[in-house]
Amino acid sequence: KVEKKVDALLSKMTLDEKAGQMTQLTLKAFTNGKSGDKLKLDENKLEKYIVQEKIGSVLNCGGRALSPEKWLEITSLVQKFAKKTRLQIPVIYGLDSIHGAGYVAGSTLFPHNIAMAAAGSRQLVQQMAEVTALETRAAGIRWNFAPVLGVARHPFWPRHYETFGEDPFIASEFAEAYITGLQGDKLPLAEDKVLACMKHFLGYSYPRSGRDRTPAWIPEIQLRELFVPPFRAAVQAGAVTAMINSSEINGRPVHASPFYLKKLLRKDIGFSGFVVSDWADIDNLYTREMVAENQREAVKIGVNAGIDMSMTPFKIDFKKHLVSLVEAGEVPVQRVDEAVKNIIKVKFQAGLFNDPFEDDKLSEKIASKEAKKLNERCAEECITLLKNESEILPLKKEEKILVTGPCSNLKSVLNGGWSRTWQGREEHLYPDSQNTILEAVKAEFGRGNVSFEKGADFDKLLDADKAAEKAENCDVILLCAGENTYTEHSGNIRDYNISLSQRKLAARLSETGKPIITILTQGRPRVVREIEKVSDAVVMAYLPGVKGADAIADVVSGDVNPSGRLPFSYPKYAGGFEWYDYKKSANWSSCKVEFQWPFGAGLSYTDFECSGLKLSKNSASKKGFDGLKVSFDVKNKGKMKGGYIAQVYVSDKVASVTPANKRLKEFKKIYLNPGENQTVNFDLPAEAFSFINAECRRVIEPGKFIIRAGGLKKEFTLE
Ligand code: IFM
Repeated sequence: KVEKKVDALLSKMTLDEKAGQMTQLTLKAFTNGKSGDKLKLDENKLEKYIVQEKIGSVLNCGGRALSPEKWLEITSLVQKFAKKTRLQIPVIYGLDSIHGAGYVAGSTLFPHNIAMAAAGSRQLVQQMAEVTALETRAAGIRWNFAPVLGVARHPFWPRHYETFGEDPFIASEFAEAYITGLQGDKLPLAEDKVLACMKHFLGYSYPRSGRDRTPAWIPEIQLRELFVPPFRAAVQAGAVTAMINSSEINGRPVHASPFYLKKLLRKDIGFSGFVVSDWADIDNLYTREMVAENQREAVKIGVNAGIDMSMTPFKIDFKKHLVSLVEAGEVPVQRVDEAVKNIIKVKFQAGLFNDPFEDDKLSEKIASKEAKKLNERCAEECITLLKNESEILPLKKEEKILVTGPCSNLKSVLNGGWSRTWQGREEHLYPDSQNTILEAVKAEFGRGNVSFEKGADFDKLLDADKAAEKAENCDVILLCAGENTYTEHSGNIRDYNISLSQRKLAARLSETGKPIITILTQGRPRVVREIEKVSDAVVMAYLPGVKGADAIADVVSGDVNPSGRLPFSYPKYAGGFEWYDYKKSANWSSCKVEFQWPFGAGLSYTDFECSGLKLSKNSASKKGFDGLKVSFDVKNKGKMKGGYIAQVYVSDKVASVTPANKRLKEFKKIYLNPGENQTVNFDLPAEAFSFINAECRRVIEPGKFIIRAGGLKKEFTLE
């Protein structure tokens, strides 16, 4: 039915109108240049671009968060101008609601995805996305440029925190949960839902240099093994838009490659929605990537390769060139028709043809009590305890604490980027009610028990002696270390170590002999070997969002029992890193694979004991191997209630392509009271035993496999 409507509309469209649909401009192209509440739309520009040039999409990137009322004013005005066009095709408006609706003032800012991955709960990811959808839609926006589904294989890449970590299975499972949360289970969208945009297809998360938007070298076998699965899962979960990797793989910019955009994305993965470029990335084909002589050629290459919509973002040169290329026969009109059909179909799925306008009925639901509660839970569940010598944690409520370090009294370091502004810097934050770690610790332990001395900035040692002096009068030191905020390329680094000033501060504090508890607020694993050595406990908080500091203080006091598990391998050295699924031959020599903390690390204040690992073949069908049932018992042997993330790993013993050390194939979070026992059951599908072979095809080879779960292992033979 929708297809018929799309075809009917397409048949009425001129080339100019079609090219307009394929053009996306940024909001800044229509404004008076001011941001925040002073921002005003310039009606002459709206008339020029939306009515005369008939552009089909608008996005917001940068600027300050706006109130929902302001957003509604903007989005309604944009749609009002779209209504003035001959065919009245609504505009699709996109926004980066990356960890909550960060550009909508007053909205819920959740932990970033890397932290949600540590929390280990599909349900929480889905609920977080549901709130994000509602609070984005309250602003009149129906398209969210999320989730990021790149598998983070370079731990120092500045967008590491936007990912679900290094494992394709976790990223695939959370892709499904996230997209279901944003879109619901049916299209056209319900009135509190938004469309997801799976991004950035493909291989963006593994730049060789670790710096943003720099070349990746990823052989097809590895692309299909590691990077394709989350996007496949997203398509199966209903994703109908995709944003493309701004960079190049194996010497081909993804924006210029029919192999990635047509063969992999559409033919192999089965994507049938529309593809949007990233920021100015068609232009980048000639300004940065050097595969086009000029802008016109860049448009030709990008559109012919399979880009449907160009985030241009300020001017309409793209559209001008596209029209001339079609007229000259250099871009087939069929390619343009295909792109426009993809776009219009999605506009129907977004419900925009029914009614593109929103009223303010959702505004009052922003930051609801339930959303705040959910956010608290997300923050609590993600915190990961990496070290706890002599069970120094939890602290007693009457202990005297020195809070020190550059992250101790800043909100921004808890939120990271995409928070009220693109960079989310401290001075950009709205007066959101949010505690810093210092404030939260004071609230938890009493003002009289807490003293403070910053001791160091990120790039400068301050009065470390004074911090040490104050520590003498305390029982314990809480060293709040990590990174200052950054987003995308502003977070590029050359030195992977945590900053020198923080290492110096830790060294000076260690001279006091007082126990040091290090809290890390960081979106990627900076090397902390020296700090770890002098720390009695290490708590990884990632970027835990506006409720993060309270969750940290609760973990320190024991009001919350930590239950996160590291979703990446924490490197020990700046000079090289490995992943948990390293090849066995990577570990043969004297210089063995070594992590600061391995993938899946995470301690608790209680003791879990696992036993009784059982395997049995699934016999649901007679057509051969149909998967394996895995079960084991988990018992809480300690004195505190706790959360436990049960994980199952599969290792192929011998295969035609060198097997990985192990691969995560299932996980589930359970909660147990002291003394309680639970059997966890998993159904591993046959695919859990597959891999990509030398011909780049997914295969299952018979032979022996090791199944690992809860520190137990068993062999299984697939005949
Ligand atoms: O969605 C983002 C993308 O991740 C980075 N470049 C800009 C886009 C739109 O804001």
